[in-house]
Amino acid sequence: MFKVALVVGSIRQHSINFVLARALEKLAGPRIAFQGADIARLPHYNDDLWCAPPESVRVFKSLIESSDAVLFVTPEFNRSIPGILKNAIDWGSRPWGKNSWAGKPVAVVGASSGGIGTAVAQSHLRSILPILDCILLGQPEVYLQFRSELFDDEFNIPDDQTRSFLEGFLAGFCRLIEASRTGVHGRSPPAA
Ligand SMILES: Cc1cc2nc3c(=O)[nH]c(=O)nc-3n(C[C@H](O)[C@H](O)[C@H](O)COP(=O)(O)O)c2cc1C
Repeated sequence: MFKVALVVGSIRQHSINFVLARALEKLAGPRIAFQGADIARLPHYNDDLWCAPPESVRVFKSLIESSDAVLFVTPEFNRSIPGILKNAIDWGSRPWGKNSWAGKPVAVVGASSGGIGTAVAQSHLRSILPILDCILLGQPEVYLQFRSELFDDEFNIPDDQTRSFLEGFLAGFCRLIEASRTGVHGRSPPAA
């Protein structure tokens, strides 16, 4: 079982991205243990706080560092990622020399009410990932235009085509995580 940090870029109660995350969690079953990151508690990024880092920051960085991989589930806000998600990414990247994202296999998905299903937000997020030194899952890309009938109240995916597409995404993500363990990406495998 892989331990995957789940970073959802929305903190609203009825977030469609949270629903997508829960549906992926259910579909993954025993293959992945998702650990949700609490990005709502992080303060606005401030270098001055490193002299006594807030507990929320310590917990967040420790969650990322102890995970085998990271799944970002992002909304699209004005053709980019929400500020709260960028804030979390920045906290994870510092202090200098202690980048929690380094070497992590990462996948990006997102749902929006709009027709392009977070494609522009994901493109922005993918352009940030190289400086974080992540190993990015290239394909399949998951751009979901949310419709309420895509998921039922228990986070099942009734539509066969959607379920099979998301299953393919999860299979690809698991392959990437497995490959990162063997060092095929030109990095040393993580310490046991
Ligand atoms: C400030 C703001 C900007 C938005 N900009 C976009 C956008 O650029 N593209 C898009 O498809 N939807 C946009 N939306 C609509 C979101 O896709 C929609 O609110 C979605 O439900 C947000 O995700 P969440 O439900 O996970 O919070 C925007 C919503 C807000 C609040």
